[in-house]
Amino acid sequence: MSANGTTSVAGGSLRADGTANPGGSVRAAGTPDGGQGIRTDAAPDGGQGIRTDAAPDGGRNVRAAAAPAGGRAPAAGIRRVGVVGGGQMGAGIAEVCARAGLDTVVCEVDAVAARAARERVAASLDRAVRRGRLAPDAAADALARLVFTGRLDDLADRQLVVEAVVENPAAKTDVFAALDKIVEDPDAVLATNTSSLPVMRLGMATGRADRVVGLHFFNPVPVLPLVEVVTSLHTSAATTAAVEEFATRTLGKTVIRSQDRAGFVVNALLVPYLLAAVRMAESGFATAADIDTGMELGCAHPMGPLRLADLIGLDTVASIAESLYDEFREALYAPPPLLLRMVEAGLLGRKTGRGFHTYDQA
Ligand SMILES: NC(=O)c1ccc[n+]([C@@H]2O[C@H](COP(=O)([O-])OP(=O)(O)OC[C@H]3O[C@@H](n4cnc5c(N)ncnc54)[C@H](O)[C@@H]3O)[C@@H](O)[C@H]2O)c1
Repeated sequence: MSANGTTSVAGGSLRADGTANPGGSVRAAGTPDGGQGIRTDAAPDGGQGIRTDAAPDGGRNVRAAAAPAGGRAPAAGIRRVGVVGGGQMGAGIAEVCARAGLDTVVCEVDAVAARAARERVAASLDRAVRRGRLAPDAAADALARLVFTGRLDDLADRQLVVEAVVENPAAKTDVFAALDKIVEDPDAVLATNTSSLPVMRLGMATGRADRVVGLHFFNPVPVLPLVEVVTSLHTSAATTAAVEEFATRTLGKTVIRSQDRAGFVVNALLVPYLLAAVRMAESGFATAADIDTGMELGCAHPMGPLRLADLIGLDTVASIAESLYDEFREALYAPPPLLLRMVEAGLLGRKTGRGFHTYDQA
């Protein structure tokens, strides 16, 4: 890992196309990294490099030049997005932002994880190309708009930051407290992709709770059209309007609103169903395969509940269940012992290759 936390390659930095950029890097605008920063790969200037606050697509897109002045909707014209956490969800959120033409910086825990996040996005873009959903040029352009880093400081100039780290209250609170100090634009919006934790508590970790909001994407982000917008008791109407505009107009998603209650709309309904399927498998009532086949062929669900739990990640399902149980104290939300044991065993589902089913690759 380099001193500045970027994905370091022989003293330079990792370009978004994964190639080394020894010594020739250009810093992301506003990053206090003393010029060691990160560059995008789409240098349309004959290799001189471009700052990430310039149009990365050779000027085809019109970009907002600066953050909006105070008094305007906080995120009007959001063009510079940060994503904290580059796992399943963070990588997906970063991908849709880059595909929408946004300058996107993804922050992971360190350089190794930043590289893994980049590979995740690149693999997803490749898949979209192979399936005929994305032109090869568009995939290359999207990758060129992405920068991966191990340093939260690299998000200083962002207009919107979406936190997508593990579903753990302490980890998320720490991220929000740090972002509050780092993100320079007082109008910037700090959003969380939490599945179940109170948005209000994350807002209270900052000095700008009115600009903190839930922006809950669904997995896989490039495929599923829904975003839940979750407003806390402190979230301002202008913040809500700005992220709704961002999700619908910029990303082309469909928004539903939820109050700040554990699980919001979708997981409050979905997770008890997933937990019921785990209990059914645990008790020997039916096999995992039969439970899934039952719901796929009997109810026309695209995926049975245990395969879906594997896709979400059993650690994430268990964390959501715990949040729901903490909030509502109802037995149907309590995580079953089998689920907890599988998480302890590292059998997290698709991302580790084994959960209720086995998978060829993590
Ligand atoms: N998996 C789903 O289907 C799903 C759907 C909607 C929302 N969510 C939510 O999205 C969030 C992320 O879930 P995921 O499935 O992507 O988990 P994941 O385990 O795939 O990824 C989490 C990533 O966060 C990184 N991370 C942890 N601490 C960090 C920090 N301080 N700074 C930067 N990166 C950090 C980890 O290295 C990891 O790569 C959770 O809050 C989860 O509840 C998940």
